[in-house]
Amino acid sequence: MSTIDSTYPDRDAVEASYHEHVDAGRVDTWKLADMQLVMGEREGPRFSDAFTGKWYLNCHCNGGVFNLGHRNPRVIAAVREAMDHIDIGNHHLVSTHRARAAEKLVESTGGDLPCVVFGTTGGEAIDLAIKAARHATGRDGIVSVEGAYHGHTGLALATGEAKFRDPFRHVVPGFIQVPYNDLGAMGSAIDDSTAAVILEAIPATLGFPMPEPGYLAQVQSLCRERGALLIVDEVQTGLGRTGSVWYHHQESVDPDMLVAGKGLGGGIYPIAATLMTADVHRFTSEEPFSHVSTFGGSELGCVAASTVLDIVTDLVFLERVKEVGVRIGDGLAGGPFEIRRRGMLTGLKFEQTTGGMTAMKALFDRGIYSFFAGNDPSVLQFKPSLIVSDDDIDWLISTVRETLW
Ligand SMILES: Cc1ncc(COP(=O)(O)O)c(C=O)c1O
Repeated sequence: MSTIDSTYPDRDAVEASYHEHVDAGRVDTWKLADMQLVMGEREGPRFSDAFTGKWYLNCHCNGGVFNLGHRNPRVIAAVREAMDHIDIGNHHLVSTHRARAAEKLVESTGGDLPCVVFGTTGGEAIDLAIKAARHATGRDGIVSVEGAYHGHTGLALATGEAKFRDPFRHVVPGFIQVPYNDLGAMGSAIDDSTAAVILEAIPATLGFPMPEPGYLAQVQSLCRERGALLIVDEVQTGLGRTGSVWYHHQESVDPDMLVAGKGLGGGIYPIAATLMTADVHRFTSEEPFSHVSTFGGSELGCVAASTVLDIVTDLVFLERVKEVGVRIGDGLAGGPFEIRRRGMLTGLKFEQTTGGMTAMKALFDRGIYSFFAGNDPSVLQFKPSLIVSDDDIDWLISTVRETLW
């Protein structure tokens, strides 16, 4: 079977259909930027354009969906085997596959967060985290960070930027935003009406500004002092990207809730999860069936997630991520940008306000697919898959140096 639907003989044909039926703005934007692309073959750290056959090293990875590369053979084998026997299952019933994936997630936190609610997308898992925080605390207030991004679903959208909310007349009371790394502002925002503070461990869409030393731990102390919960969003930073399974472990933070998505399905089957303390999870017994997600924690998704967790909790795997991260950092040192890096999560911050956009296009032309940070386009998000070979890294570093220096 071809990697594309052969109804469309060329790029113009599929773009015309897409423009009419799916998303006119995207088609126009990529045309204007001269970055037209239809994904064709995908293998390991690379994918090709279906119409030119040009290969790209994927340094965007959909924010982490392809952490384990495209079509990871272990994930495919597990899901393929499972498809001979099971399907998505029934979300109302008990499931061995769901129990197993939950146990593996819990183990990955060292047992700190013993309960899991599965979802399909990061946004859904964030919505659930906010609902659960409100139930557990009996409070409504949610504090998030300016420029952070937690998704485009109902409550997740309310934590984010006005530019994503206003066009849809999305007005939800109870949400406030404070500047990142500003403990004073955070301290003023959390009060006895605050149900939770929600933070990305490192805010991706803001361009990976690193937390100041102790910032996350101090936010946690403020939450504890004032009876609010701390939700850490590791949709982008989690699952090995920073050299540990979860980034918050490197910051000695002990959140009440943790959100995982993107890479959890290994790029093969969508799944997301909200991990939480037993106290927060008590809504499942107090209000049975109060939260439902037909596809959340589908059995096939759980098979994919269990396989992903087996891979990313392996210490040899994590050591390799750290080692490659250092090589990327060393290889890109001295360039016309500031390097923001933890493990293989890297942001390149340029002085020009749209420097990340310009770099994206320059690298695109050389066969590197990366993406600028949506809420700070001076930053290029630079996230190769975690399974890149030494040769891939050598090529990547030399190509970036030839292109951006
Ligand atoms: C940090 C973070 N949280 C949540 C989300 C929402 O995930 P989804 O698009 O799967 O709803 C995203 C998506 O980009 C994200 O980057």
